[in-house]
Amino acid sequence: MTDSQQSIHGEWGSRWAFILAATGSAVGLGNIWRFPYIVGEYGGGAFILVYLACILLIGLPVMMAEILIGRRGRQSPINTMRALPAEHGANRSWQAVGWLGVLAGFLVLSFYSVVAGWSLAYVPFTAVGTFTGAETGEVEQFFEALLQSPWQMLLWHTVFMAVTAFIVLRGVQNGLERAVRLLMPVLFLLLLVMVGYGMGAGAFLEAINLMFQPDLGALNGEALLVAMGQAFFTLSLGLGAIMAYGSYLTSRASIPGNSGLIAGADTVIALLAGLAVFPIVLGAGLDPESGPGLVFVALSYGFGQMPLGALFGTLFFLLLSFAALTSAISIMEPATAYLVENRGWQRPKAAVVVAGMAWLVGIGSLLAFNAWSGFTIAGLNFQELMEYLSTSVMLPLGGLLIALFAGWVLPRNLTSEELGVSPRAGLFRVWLVLVRYLVPAAILVVFANSLGIIG
Ligand code: TRP
Repeated sequence: MTDSQQSIHGEWGSRWAFILAATGSAVGLGNIWRFPYIVGEYGGGAFILVYLACILLIGLPVMMAEILIGRRGRQSPINTMRALPAEHGANRSWQAVGWLGVLAGFLVLSFYSVVAGWSLAYVPFTAVGTFTGAETGEVEQFFEALLQSPWQMLLWHTVFMAVTAFIVLRGVQNGLERAVRLLMPVLFLLLLVMVGYGMGAGAFLEAINLMFQPDLGALNGEALLVAMGQAFFTLSLGLGAIMAYGSYLTSRASIPGNSGLIAGADTVIALLAGLAVFPIVLGAGLDPESGPGLVFVALSYGFGQMPLGALFGTLFFLLLSFAALTSAISIMEPATAYLVENRGWQRPKAAVVVAGMAWLVGIGSLLAFNAWSGFTIAGLNFQELMEYLSTSVMLPLGGLLIALFAGWVLPRNLTSEELGVSPRAGLFRVWLVLVRYLVPAAILVVFANSLGIIG
């Protein structure tokens, strides 16, 4: 492949632009909202251990595979997964990977935007001092009240989706790059502030115990599945988002190096979020197993107790909303790029249609907390169903197929060239063994185990 070969959607201005965009995609609600709440629900240390193993042994090799497939194909994931199999004499059904990803993207974005809406709602609420000096019960009630107001949630969900669509319709290059460069480090600093606060005022040692003392007996098949799904979710893998971003990457950039950097930064942020949340939760006697509201309740309580908390809190929820925005735009990219390529639509039209559809599905998720809370399938309400189907089923399935495609269909000389190493290099051999054998086997075992077929 030559450098002159580019995606019709453009190319990142520099290597840093890709790293920023991909890290922006990875770091989001998955790290700060979802990670702490599932760690609390699935029992702490052992769960984190499995999660870290999944990041390293499954996430990292799949990320390399997704980026290299994207950069080789230079099209939207659906068309890349049509063109590459054709080029290499493989079955046409590989294209289903692209479609699966686009579908998963709608499901993910629909509830993602609702939760991002909570974060947006907390910006003005924190700013006016709602949580200043509040008791735990009041903070919990406040969150509960938000869940009971479909109109309020609809407002914030709509605002978030509209801003996301607006950023996506402006295109790859002139998106958020500059803002992200400034905002992400500030989010990082604020997390450090919260960890520092927890060290002083919270139950820090208990939190360390909860997070890093694995009780392997507490792990069941469901916990394994959730930990693996979270590895995909937090690294933005399995639905083609990183593949689309890879298709805008110059051929000169190192895929293994960038992947390591992105996964490393993402993991650090998730662990910091845990270290910020759990000292407050345990110190204030909140319930670690309280589910999706955990971070909102714990952090707003913490901000209410600390000096300058209203200021820090406002800033925090604002930055969390930004982090969610840079993730949401990547979830939209595969479907948007596809509509531009195959329908010949202008990018603005494609972006508005994609966002509009996800917005509509999202209404189901926000009603799941109130009017529709009685509707459940297999014990899951609409929002839980969307989260479960996409994160625990579709993303790992997408990752499995991506790994098989990169490992078995694409020839070694091509993949090693894209990864920038010799086919005989140790790094390449390890990667190949992982995507060919370990990743598919691990995903299948976790699936089978959670279905009760084995184990
Ligand atoms: N990784 C993001 C987060 O942690 C969410 C996200 C962005 C995502 N793009 C994705 C999840 C693609 C799955 C697939 O918040």
